[in-house]
Amino acid sequence: MKNQIIIIFISLVMLLLFFNVGDFIPNEKSRDIKIDDNALRKEALSHGLAAIPAKWEDAKKIVDTPDNPLSFEKISLGRSLFFDPILSRDETITCASCHLIQDGGDDNRPTAIGYHNQKNPKHLNSPTVLNAALAKREFWDGRSPSVEDQAKGPIQAPFEMNMTPKEVIARVKQNELYAQTLKELFPKTGVSFTNITKAIGAYERTLLTRGSFDDFLDGNNSAISLKAKKGLSLFINLGCKGCHTGMSVGGQSIQKFPLRRYDGFIIPISIFVNNHVQFSKFKFQSISKKTSPYPFKDTGGFHGKNGAFKFRVPILRNITRTTPYFHNGAVKELKEVVRIMAKHQLGITLSKKQISQIIAFLKTLEGGPVDYDLAPD
Ligand code: HEC
Ligand code: HEC
Repeated sequence: MKNQIIIIFISLVMLLLFFNVGDFIPNEKSRDIKIDDNALRKEALSHGLAAIPAKWEDAKKIVDTPDNPLSFEKISLGRSLFFDPILSRDETITCASCHLIQDGGDDNRPTAIGYHNQKNPKHLNSPTVLNAALAKREFWDGRSPSVEDQAKGPIQAPFEMNMTPKEVIARVKQNELYAQTLKELFPKTGVSFTNITKAIGAYERTLLTRGSFDDFLDGNNSAISLKAKKGLSLFINLGCKGCHTGMSVGGQSIQKFPLRRYDGFIIPISIFVNNHVQFSKFKFQSISKKTSPYPFKDTGGFHGKNGAFKFRVPILRNITRTTPYFHNGAVKELKEVVRIMAKHQLGITLSKKQISQIIAFLKTLEGGPVDYDLAPD
């Protein structure tokens, strides 16, 4: 009897160790990171991270495109349209309903709610519109190549603004100023659906944000805390930057998620019965993981590009202001998101300290749209 109790106890300890082994041995590479400001800045820049320009003349060089040349008039028209409910069937919804410009560029809901209170049918979370123009592809599965092309989607989606291009043209024509400006901007084509979305896209191209991270990259060593610097160092050295890169800290590629799955562990456990040794295999799975291909609930059943679990890497600027997270808004806490990312994308178990350092870095990416002087001289 005594022996059996001891054996059961040992088995339980083994089980715990195997099951959660990663959590007991956090990767503490960073325990004492020495920070050399200049070296860290150089490292960040050499890995594709970059500051958002503080001046419009510099920013314009990055966001202007021959497909939709920017002008003050076009941007102003786009701004008006972005906030105008005439683009929705019952004139109650604007682009800003789901993309609050002054509050992280999203709506802070798990899933978007559009025309007649309809939820996004795939339970997709509204991504931030801020800095979206810097992304190589738009949407969670990257199916759109530009902000201009993207804007055609929500206007027509029955669960978002629920309009047809024809109806949009008729509405816009009723506004003399809009019609006149479009004719001046596009003398050949005038009021067309494409031109309307080009104006909206032009405005979106100006929605760039700067945070204290940018001041640090521009040379101000005291712009961010030592904790944030350690977080930045982890972000670079652990490999987050491999996917979340570029000026927008994301948006540059389509990547698999989850890259590594930890949804089951085959654990050989020795069971002693009546002094006979038997070996059997047990597979442990937590309930949510059993039914979900993600380390969170599969609400909406969206599985990325071609259903192959490929996602446009999200932009991390203003990430501290865009809870809830992931394509279906399943996770509320940023620390849980960072834990999941490290575990499933990098195969690393982070310590609590490391997670809070990375979050301190992510906080330096907070900032509203730069108040650029867009007016022509
Ligand atoms: C009902 C809420 C809703 C409305 C209204 C809405 N959006 Fe969105 N927006 C979303 C959702 C949800 C997604 C993600 C959809 C997807 O990936 O399939 C999205 C994606 C985007 C993206 C892509 C961002 C990225 O990083 O991939 C941009 C840009 C954008 N919207 C701009 C706009 C513009 C411009 C309008 C107005 C014409 C608009 N949205 C109207 C909810 C909305
Ligand atoms: C192999 C590429 C890859 C790596 C490496 C990676 N990520 Fe991600 N990250 C993604 C993808 C893809 C998603 C979107 C997954 C989804 O929504 O289903 C994502 C989502 C996120 C989100 C949530 C974004 C949102 O808007 O909801 C955060 C925050 C994040 N990653 C931070 C990190 C951090 C911190 C690291 C390093 C510890 C990291 N990522 C490493 C690809 C990656």
